[in-house]
Amino acid sequence: MIKKMRLQRLAHWLYIRARWLYITRIGRWLEGLNLTGETVEANKYWNDWYSGTNLTDNETIETGVDNLYTRVHYAGIEEALAQILRERKVNLPESHVVDIGTGAGHWIQFFDDLGASRITGLDIAKEPIKQLSEQHAHNSRIQFKQCDVAVNEIPDADIIVGVGVMFHIVDEKRFQQAVENIIKSLEPDGVALLTGSVGWFSYVAIRDDDGSAMKRRRSKRHWRRVINKAGGKLHKVRRVKSPKSVVTPASNVLVIQPGRD
Ligand SMILES: C[S@@+](CC[C@H](N)C(=O)[O-])C[C@H]1O[C@@H](n2cnc3c(N)ncnc32)[C@H](O)[C@@H]1O
Repeated sequence: MIKKMRLQRLAHWLYIRARWLYITRIGRWLEGLNLTGETVEANKYWNDWYSGTNLTDNETIETGVDNLYTRVHYAGIEEALAQILRERKVNLPESHVVDIGTGAGHWIQFFDDLGASRITGLDIAKEPIKQLSEQHAHNSRIQFKQCDVAVNEIPDADIIVGVGVMFHIVDEKRFQQAVENIIKSLEPDGVALLTGSVGWFSYVAIRDDDGSAMKRRRSKRHWRRVINKAGGKLHKVRRVKSPKSVVTPASNVLVIQPGRD
C-alpha cells in the first residue's frame, strides 16, 4: 500500500515537472519567434500622441480615462516605489533621479516632493519636454531633455525610474539597447525601477489601428536575459495588484541593479 502511494506521488511529481518543462520550452520557443511584425515608428507615434492634447496624467495613460481611474493607477505605483526606496534606505536628498518617458511629469513631481537633489526628465516627444521645461523653469534642480532612451545616452543617475515606458519599446534590438543605456548610466550603488507586466510569456499586447505593434509584454525570463546581457541583475519584481473594479495598466516594478547575478 505504502509503495503504491509512493509510486503515485512520484508519478504526480514527474507529471508536474514534465508540464512545467513543456510550458517553459514553449515559452522560450515563442520568444525566439519574431511575432511582432511591423512596430510603430516611436518618434512619430509619440509626437502625434501629444500634439494638440492637454498634458495631463489622464491623457498620458489613455484618451478618455477619468480622474479616479488615473488616481488608482498612480497610487498603486507610488506606494510600491515608496516601499522599495524605503527598504533600500535610499538617501533622496543626495540622489540624482532620471525619469525616462516622463510624459506629463507625474514622477518629476513625486521625486521633487520627496526632496531628490536633482531630477532629469527625458522623453522622446517634443511637447512634454517643452511644456514641463516651462512649468518647472523656476526650479534649478529639475531639467528636461528630449531623448530616445533606445538610442541616446542617459545621464548618470542614482535612481532611474521608468513607468509605463519599456513595454512601448517593442522592437527587441531597441529594447536591448534601452536596457543597456539604463544600466550603463547607473552609479555602482544605483537602482533602476522600471514598470512592466511580467507574465509567463512575451507577446504583443496592443497594436495600433494600422496593425503595427505599440506595446509588448515580456516574461520575467525574457527581462532577466536582456538585463544580464546588458551587465545588470534583476534584483526583484514587486507586484502591483490592480483592483478588480479598476483594471489599470499592468505595473509590476522591476528592481534592477548594475552587476552580474
Ligand atoms: C504611457 S506614457 C508614461 C508617462 C509617465 N512615465 C507616467 O507614468 O505618467 C509613456 C511615455 O514614454 C515616452 N516614450 C516612449 N518611448 C520612449 C523612448 N524610446 N524614449 C523616451 N521616451 C519614450 C512617451 O513619449 C510617453 O510620454
